[in-house]
Amino acid sequence: MLLSAEKHNAAQTDLAFQRCINPLCGATYDAMAIHTACQQCGELLDIAYDWDRAALPSSLAFFEQMWARRNDPVRFSGVWRFHELLPFAPQDKLVTVGEGQTLLQQTDAVGRYVGLNAGQLHLQYEGMNPSGSFKDNGMCAATTHAGLVGAQRAACASTGNTSASLALYCSATQRMKAVIFIGSGKIAYGKLSQALDYGALTIQIHGDFDDAMVRVKEVSKEMGIYLVNSVNPFRLEGQKTVMYRVLEALRWEVPDWIVVPGGNLGNSSAFGKAFMELKEHGLIDRVPRLAVINAAGAATLYELFENRGVRWNEGRIDSDPIDQYNQKMDQDGIRADTIASAIEINRPVNLKKCLRALDVMDGVVRKVSDQEILDAKAQVGAGGFGCEPASAASVAGAKRLREEGVIAPSDRVVCVLTGHELKDPNATVAYHAGDQEMFDKVLGSRGVTEAKFGNGSVAVENDLDKIIEAIRKHG
Ligand code: F0G
Repeated sequence: MLLSAEKHNAAQTDLAFQRCINPLCGATYDAMAIHTACQQCGELLDIAYDWDRAALPSSLAFFEQMWARRNDPVRFSGVWRFHELLPFAPQDKLVTVGEGQTLLQQTDAVGRYVGLNAGQLHLQYEGMNPSGSFKDNGMCAATTHAGLVGAQRAACASTGNTSASLALYCSATQRMKAVIFIGSGKIAYGKLSQALDYGALTIQIHGDFDDAMVRVKEVSKEMGIYLVNSVNPFRLEGQKTVMYRVLEALRWEVPDWIVVPGGNLGNSSAFGKAFMELKEHGLIDRVPRLAVINAAGAATLYELFENRGVRWNEGRIDSDPIDQYNQKMDQDGIRADTIASAIEINRPVNLKKCLRALDVMDGVVRKVSDQEILDAKAQVGAGGFGCEPASAASVAGAKRLREEGVIAPSDRVVCVLTGHELKDPNATVAYHAGDQEMFDKVLGSRGVTEAKFGNGSVAVENDLDKIIEAIRKHG
């Protein structure tokens, strides 16, 4: 049954609050407060709800009614269509630019590459969002909260997609000015071009994402600028909906695996919260397993989870191995380094929430080389679904887990393709072009030695017979 708009809005003005993720602390804050960490213990914050007073549906099929309401911009949105599951703002205050019109694509071509039985691999194609990546799922939620608290400026550090998304939302809504921080030389041109074109103030600092993240936190605090990095718990509320759409596309059947690239670990954290809540509400009967895939050159989560045994442990996380690993990185001067620039991050801010997600979803972590990433990306492209390098880490990771026997051939697997093919054409062209100089320049230093699935262009003289001959030979 649909709720009337009035009842719905009335029910949702005071349902939400912010809560420290550390169960030993559990401090709470008003939903209108602007915090990116607990003021008592410094841990991350969650958005929590008084679910007893919320208008929760009794089954996920409830949301099918929204498909008939596509002329309402709120219900057209692939995020706000699920408003009942993230009711922190009234409907008339929700910001949307039509995000979340994304598809779950079943593909046997890529499924064979991964090693799955026919019908079992699905790609959640988030590159179809307005700014070309999954970030829009979270940005509509963060800018909604920013609007509620009257922010004039919003900032982020970014490897490119968060900034493109923030810049788009600020220009499309004309409500706030976007201020973005990027590490010079650490952003793919497709993404930089978006921030510039959408009119964001773009601050390039000498350093990488981890450096930019430290600075943007300092500057936001100092200048009272609203921060939209994924330490912002409202953003992650929006990102939960990627999983709702996966379930929707599977007619509410839970898959066996969700495989996602890991960078700052916002997505994996949001997915864990989504499934934790759905299970608590009795809206699903089981939770899928989670695989978070790091690039080998930026594998902090892998190192801590798989090699050093760091676990959520009901919130009592042993911080010693984390501190020791961070110190070691500092001492040895280790910086993140991968062709998958979107996930070139060594100090993931959502580490602890991700550990919780791995716990809830019986997760595993793997790291894959840049060679594996680019080969998987070429397969995703040849299968008809382009993606940027970071996204292909999910497919490369699924293949690895299949080979290890952790994923069975009969498992139903969803790999999240986080960003659009056109975000980073340099990596794609360098892989395919067959130009050794370009290959060495862009990929050589990253341990990529061959373009196994390279599809270079064929140079032919501008002569009809020669062109026909070339097509006969190569086609
Ligand atoms: N894939 C893409 C295409 C991304 O842009 C990112 C993160 C990730 C995966 C990793 O997601 O951080 O939730 O683990 N990009 C951020 C940015 C860091 O600034 O655009 P995560």
